[in-house]
Amino acid sequence: MTKIECILRPAKIMEVRNVLGNLGVKGMTVTEVIGCGLQKGHTRDDWNTEFNINLLPKTKIEMVVSDDMVDEVIRAIIEISRTGEIGDGKIFTYPIGNAVRIRTGETGESAI
Ligand SMILES: Nc1ncnc2c1ncn2[C@@H]1O[C@H](COP(=O)(O)OP(=O)(O)OP(=O)(O)O)[C@@H](O)[C@H]1O
Ligand SMILES: [Mg+2]
Repeated sequence: MTKIECILRPAKIMEVRNVLGNLGVKGMTVTEVIGCGLQKGHTRDDWNTEFNINLLPKTKIEMVVSDDMVDEVIRAIIEISRTGEIGDGKIFTYPIGNAVRIRTGETGESAI
């Protein structure tokens, strides 16, 4: 199992959520966040001239999926989210030790 965490433009979230659902992603956690990347939160026009860090609104999606779905999920997120402009977002993956569905006690892939 792998946890995929992606931080995206808020405007892309509805489409990403729908496509991930269609791919068979069963659960996800969505959080409104603020953050910055390479440009320290500045837009294309001002990022060479500003020295303070600015934090822009982004949306974070976290989901734990079986390892065989990881590539497909990442491809879909990129396809929807890439505009080619700075600030398109980022994807991080983490290996997951275990999962437990509290209601039933199921563990591992049957719990996700
Ligand atoms: N190294 C990082 N660690 C944690 N979060 C990050 C990191 N880089 C980016 N993020 C998060 O991702 C969001 C989007 O990052 P962004 O797309 O601007 O990345 P970037 O590296 O600056 O690439 P680009 O040059 O395309 O803008 C940030 O607002 C921040 O929330
Ligand atoms: Mg950036």
